[in-house]
Order: sequence, then C-alpha cells, then structure tokens
Amino acid sequence: MHSFSNLFFIISLLILQTRICIIVAIEDKLEHIDPTLPPALPGQTPKCSILILQQDFANTIGAPPAMANYTEPTDCPYPWTRVVLELSVSASDVQKSRIAAIWLSGVEILRTTTPLPMSPGTFWRVQKDITRYTNLLRQLPGGAAAGTAAAGDGVKFYMMLENSNERLPGVYMANVSLHFYRGELVDGRRGYTARPTVKGLYRQPADIILPVSQSCAGNGFWFRIQNETHIPFSSLTIPRNTYRAVLEIFASHHEHDEFWYANPLRPSYSSGEFSNSNGGFRQLYATIDGKFVGGHVPFPVIYPGGINPYFWSPVAAIGSFDIPTYDLDVTPFLAMMIDGQPHEIGVGVRDALPHWLVTANLHLWVDVWSDSVVAGMGEYFAPEVRVNKNGEWRNVEGQSEVSADGLVRFTGWVASSKGNVTTRVRQKITFKSQVAVQNGGGVKQVEMTNKARGDVGLTMGHQILGRVQMFVEAPLQVQSTMETDPSGGVLERTRLFHQLEEVVNLNENQVVSSSTLIDRQDAEGSALMHDGMPVWGSGTTKSSYKYRDDANVCYLRTVSAEGGEVKFDISSPSCSAME
Ligand SMILES: *[C@@H]1O[C@H](CO)[C@@H](O)[C@H](O)[C@H]1NC(C)=O
Ligand SMILES: *[C@@H]1O[C@H](CO)[C@@H](O)[C@H](O)[C@H]1NC(C)=O
Ligand SMILES: *[C@@H]1O[C@H](CO)[C@@H](O)[C@H](O)[C@H]1NC(C)=O
Ligand SMILES: *[C@@H]1O[C@H](CO)[C@@H](O)[C@H](O)[C@H]1NC(C)=O
Repeated sequence: MHSFSNLFFIISLLILQTRICIIVAIEDKLEHIDPTLPPALPGQTPKCSILILQQDFANTIGAPPAMANYTEPTDCPYPWTRVVLELSVSASDVQKSRIAAIWLSGVEILRTTTPLPMSPGTFWRVQKDITRYTNLLRQLPGGAAAGTAAAGDGVKFYMMLENSNERLPGVYMANVSLHFYRGELVDGRRGYTARPTVKGLYRQPADIILPVSQSCAGNGFWFRIQNETHIPFSSLTIPRNTYRAVLEIFASHHEHDEFWYANPLRPSYSSGEFSNSNGGFRQLYATIDGKFVGGHVPFPVIYPGGINPYFWSPVAAIGSFDIPTYDLDVTPFLAMMIDGQPHEIGVGVRDALPHWLVTANLHLWVDVWSDSVVAGMGEYFAPEVRVNKNGEWRNVEGQSEVSADGLVRFTGWVASSKGNVTTRVRQKITFKSQVAVQNGGGVKQVEMTNKARGDVGLTMGHQILGRVQMFVEAPLQVQSTMETDPSGGVLERTRLFHQLEEVVNLNENQVVSSSTLIDRQDAEGSALMHDGMPVWGSGTTKSSYKYRDDANVCYLRTVSAEGGEVKFDISSPSCSAME
C-alpha cells in the first residue's frame, strides 16, 4: 500500500506514460487558462511592448538558465504607470509538468509551473504585474539598472525551466515579453495586482531590490532547502539611508514535499522509503542575523500532476501559473542593518522535507535627502508558533492532526527627512490540518484550513500615517475513495474544494478603502487504475474568481471545465453582474 501522497505521485507519473489513450481523449491545441484578474483590463493598451527572450527548453536538466540582455525601450522610457510581464509558452508534445522561474538581475520576478501537456500544441500565457520591480528596468547612463547594487554590468533576464526528452518528447517553447504602460490607467486599481501581495500600503516601487539567493546562476538562483535546520542566507549591505524594507519570499515545494498539504503524521512503516510523514504544516520564514523576523504558512499550490491531473486541464489550479509570494515588512529591523556592514538574510521552511526552492527579494526605499537615517527597535515579541501534533496509526489506517497558532509583534522607528516614523507589524496565524485513512487505505481525507491576519501600521507621534490589515483564509478539502473493480482494476474517485480568500483594509491619510478576493475551485473526477496504470480518467472543475474593491473595480470570472474542455467561461468586469 502506498501513502496517500505517494499514490497521487504514482498516478501522475503513470498518466504520463499512457499518453496514447489521453491524446485520443483530448482535443488538439488546447489553451490552458488561469482565470484571474488581468493585470490590465481590455481596452488599455501598452505604450510599447518588447520581446525579451525566445527560447526552446528541450533537455535542460542541470543546464544554466537561458539569458537575455535588456535595454530600456527608447520609444517609451521611464516613468511607467504599470509594467506587465508576459510569459507565453507552447508545448510541442506530451510532457511532464515542470517548474520555471524568471529573474531580472538575479531578482526573481515570476515562479510558475507549466501545465501537464497531454497533447501536442498545448499552450498558455501567464501575465503578471511587475510594476514593483520598475527600478530594475530603468537604466542609468552606462547601462546599469537604477534599482540594483551591481554597477556597470548591463541588465539581464534569466529563465530556468528544467525539462527532459529522455522519456517524453515535449519541448517547451517560450516567449518572454514586457508591456509598458504610460499615463493614467482608468481601472482605478492603485497598485493592486491580481493577487495583491504588497497590499497597497506602499504605492511607490522600491528604490533598490537586493536578491536573497545564490549569487551564481549556474544551477538557477534559487536555494534548495533540504530540511528545517537548513537556513540558507545571503550577506547583504544596505544603504545607510534606507527608511523602509519589505522582504518578498518566493517558494515552491518538490519531491518529498510535493504534496506536503496531504502528508500524514505517522511513523514510517516501510523501510528503505523516505517517509512523507511529518504532517501537513509548513511555515516559510525569514531571519536577519539569525533572528526570526516573520513568516507565513504557504498557500498549498497544487501542481498540474497532483490529486487528479484531469482536474487541471485546461483550468490551472489556484496559484500554479503565478505562485503566490509572501511579503514581510521588516522595517522594524532596520536598526540592525543600517550600519553599512553586511548582514545575513536567511530563509527557512519549518518541518520541511527535501526539497523546497526558495528565494527572497529585499525591497528597500531610500531617503534621497539624507546620507543616513537613525533607527531604533521597539517591541520584539516572537514566540515560536505553537504546534500540536497528534497521530494514531495502525499500518496504513489511522488519522492525524496538526494544529498551529502563533502571534508576533514587532515595532521599530526610523527618523529620516520624512520625520520619525514608527512601523508596527503584527501577524497572527491559526492553522489546522487533518489527514485520515480508512478501509485499509481505500478511503482518504485531507482537510486543511489556514487563517492569517496581518497588520502593518505607520505612525508619527500620535498621528496615524497609514495602516493596512490583511485577512487570509485558505481552506482545502480532498476526499478520495478507491474500489476494486471486477476486472481487477482500482477505481479512484476524488472530490476537491480549494479556496483562497483575501480581504484587505487600507487606511491611507485617513481615507479608508478595502478589497476582497475569493478564488475558489470545486472539482470531482475519477481514474481507473489497472495494474497500477490509469486506463481512463475524467474530471469536472468549477472555478470562480471574484475581486472587488471600493475603487470601483469588480471582476468576476467563472469557468466550468469537463473532460478536458471548457464548457462555459463567463467574465464580467462590472459590479452589477456580481450578485
Ligand atoms: C549580452 O551582452 C554581453 C555584453 O554585455 C554580450 O557579451 C553577450 O553576448 C550578450 N548576450 C546575448 C544573449 O545577447
Ligand atoms: C513566440 O513568438 C513568435 C514570434 O516572434 C511566434 O511565432 C510564436 O508563436 C510565439 N510563441 C508563443 C508560444 O507565443
Ligand atoms: C539538512 O540539510 C543540510 C543541507 O543539505 C545538511 O547539511 C544537513 O545534514 C541536513 N540535516 C539533517 C538533520 O538532515
Ligand atoms: C523617534 O521616536 C521614538 C518613539 O517615539 C523615540 O523613542 C525615538 O527617540 C525618536 N527618535 C528620534 C531620533 O527622534
């Protein structure tokens, strides 16, 4: 008997091997879609667009990332109101789903997965608002980007997508483009992106962005985190006039943690096999000189081969095209860093099994009116997250539960030409994961809920300058049953519910605004397994994406897919159709 997560892994591998059956079932030239808020609404046209990189990824395992030089477009130079990155890819044939990333001067700007191409001609497009990296695209005389520490050396884009044609023929053909917008954009979105992460408190892009990653591109810039004691870091020296700092973490889970959200908590019962058995809780966090400075429970992104691959064709699982990133406001810690000396910025994954690919970007805002600022740390309250683990297992049967809750508070002040501003950060998480296996492995259930609340407030004396509150709730439920069929096969039926809900309340100079995002998927389907091989499979997926803010943006998109085809796809850019 295989564990729950192993079983899914095996199913996804086997489906790849039985491509002949699948090709018959699925129409040619299938577009895969991620129904989210587009980074620019129809009718808004970029001032200019440039193709950055055009690359085929065939046998690229172990190869360095593809590289391209960048020059700021002369026909639409800085300043830009929005910049959108577009990754457009087609797969020549069937292939495994792969992880990919794009870096700009060593700073990661997109982490994504390919879909699982079940037929030749599968294609898709990922668009991401990258306005927050604007200063890396702005070139100074001499060619260096305005927003990097590296001088002189021109600006370079890198893309990594490790693919192999050893077992499957598919080649990924990718185009990376940039769209630059100038002048006012009429959609009222003030810096919000499809899945807002900066949460709107800091409208101006950072002046400088420093990567927390491998300095050499050879094997990709990312750190490979093997376990929870492995906390890789970069030594960074930041300008002495930095008055604000935000750390943005990128992460994806692989190998033994590919299905971390479904990992049971139990002693390993089979020898020789790496046990995926430390439960369904993970926390991504960062350290400065070894000191914990905040963390997030990652959103459990389901990869295209996961749970039931038919669920994700042609609608991508939530977050799989643009893997969510996690911001930590580290301004309260500037007092530790503005001494002109290098400091170690580390990233870790609590309870990690091999392996996670992690990088971070340190976004810095500098005070152009002074050579140095003065800063001090106030409250530092950071008890470790309380984690309760319980499991009761008899071989494959049993159940386990991991619950976690935590609260951290950090305060620090920075006195600059903008005044003496105190930043207060508060983060609270409540998490629960349950995994149960019954009927000798025939019935499995996974239930997870993550609730997080974040609060960042800026004050000067008794005056509130700004405050942002974020509420995130991410439930996941998977039920699956396996029955032996008279012919000797195993019929597996699976039902899934997954959601990401984010509410952001913003108070900016006493003006209060809010936005709500609910991204939801419900899927159901089966796969018939024969001698461990799927002979048949199907899936129905309903996706619903709703974004609304009180700056008059309402966007609703519902897509229903069945048997590899989109049955309906309705989007409405207006509020009236929302209810
Ligand atoms: C990028 O520019 C460098 C010089 O700065 C040059 O040596 C290199 O060949 C260029 N690479 C590409 C892919 O054009
Ligand atoms: C990439 O761009 C070329 C034109 O430069 C186009 O022919 C091709 O279809 C594009 N591929 C994708 C996947 O968008
Ligand atoms: C954790 O990973 C690091 C880096 O690969 C390794 O050196 C260390 O031995 C590992 N620790 C444990 C307890 O496995
Ligand atoms: C800035 O404000 C904090 C808290 O109000 C105070 O402790 C600190 O002394 C002030 N710093 C300066 C340089 O005024």
